[in-house]
Amino acid sequence: MASTTVRADAPGVRGAEDKPGSTGGLGTPRSERAQGEREFKFTLADFDKVRKLIYDHAGISLAPAKQDMVYSRLARRLRACGDATFADYLKRLEHDRGEWENFANSLTTNLTSFFREPHHFEVLAEELKNHKGARPIKIWCAASSTGEEPYTLAITACEAFRTMDPPVRIMASDIDTNVLRQAEEGVFRQDRIDRMDPERVRRFFLKGSGAQGGYVKIRPELARLVSFRQVNLLDSSYPIQGPVDYIFCRNVMIYFDKPTQYAVLKRFAPLLKPDGLLFAGHSESFLHAADLFKSRGRTVYELTNATRR
Ligand SMILES: C[S@@+](CC[C@H](N)C(=O)[O-])C[C@H]1O[C@@H](n2cnc3c(N)ncnc32)[C@H](O)[C@@H]1O
Repeated sequence: MASTTVRADAPGVRGAEDKPGSTGGLGTPRSERAQGEREFKFTLADFDKVRKLIYDHAGISLAPAKQDMVYSRLARRLRACGDATFADYLKRLEHDRGEWENFANSLTTNLTSFFREPHHFEVLAEELKNHKGARPIKIWCAASSTGEEPYTLAITACEAFRTMDPPVRIMASDIDTNVLRQAEEGVFRQDRIDRMDPERVRRFFLKGSGAQGGYVKIRPELARLVSFRQVNLLDSSYPIQGPVDYIFCRNVMIYFDKPTQYAVLKRFAPLLKPDGLLFAGHSESFLHAADLFKSRGRTVYELTNATRR
C-alpha cells in the first residue's frame, strides 16, 4: 500500500460540513442553547447586522431562522477575539479588516463530497471525449469548498482521456480561505472516499499509514491539474483567464437571492466559450436568467443566441 506524509492533524481532514461550534452530533453545543443560557449577549439587532454584513460582502442571504446557527458559528470568533458581546464584535469589524476573513469564513456552508450529483460528471466525460476545440480544455470550479469537486473533475478528465496527463486545466476558487487551504493540501479522511470504487482510490489517492492511518492524499499527478485561488462571486469582475470551456458553479447560488444570481450569471456569460457549458446544483434553476442561459438538460446550461458570440 502506498504511503505518504499525511499529517493526522492536517487542516484538510476536517469533515467539510463541520464548522466551529459543531458537536458532530454529540448534543447541543454550549453556544446553541437557549438565549437565556447563552455565553454572549446576541440581540435581534445584532443578528440583523450580521445578515446585512454577510449579504453585502458575500451575497449570502441568511434566513431569519438561522439565528442559532449564526450565534453558534460566531461565538467562537468572539472567544478568539476576547469580545464580551456580539455588539463588541460587530464594532470590531468596523476597524479590524483582518477579522473580516474569519467572519466570512465562519458564515459559509461548505458541504460537499466526491462525485456529488454524479450525473454532471457523466455529461462532462462525454463532452471531454468529443471535444474538438482548443487545448488545454479549461474548467472553472467556482465554489470549490474543501476540494472534493475540483478533484472529482480532475479524476473525470483522467478517466475520459485514459491518462494521468489529460489536456485539461482546472481553476478552483472559493471565497472561504480556510477551505481553500484544506483543498490545496489535498488530504481527506478515509471515510470521505468510502463509497468510491477501490480501483479509483488506488489510481488517484495515496493512503496514509502509521500515524497518518485513516487519511488519504490526492496523488501529485492529479493535484497538478488543479490550481486554487480566492474569488468572491460578488466581485464585479473575476480574476479568471477566459474564455473557459466549462463552469461548475454548484450549490452556492442557493445562498444568493435572484438579483445576485442574475448579476453573477451576467459575469459568467462572457467568460464562457460559445459552446461552453455551465453546471448548476440540482436544486438550482436559472430560468429567471433566460436571456443569458438556456437549459441543456438536468441543471446544465448553455449560452443563448444573444450571449453566444
Ligand atoms: C455548499 S458549498 C458547495 C461546494 C461544491 N460546489 C459542491 O457542490 O459540492 C458552497 C460553497 O460556496 C462558497 N461561497 C459562498 N459564498 C461565496 C461567494 N460569494 N463567492 C465564492 N464562493 C462562495 C462557500 O464558501 C462554500 O464553500
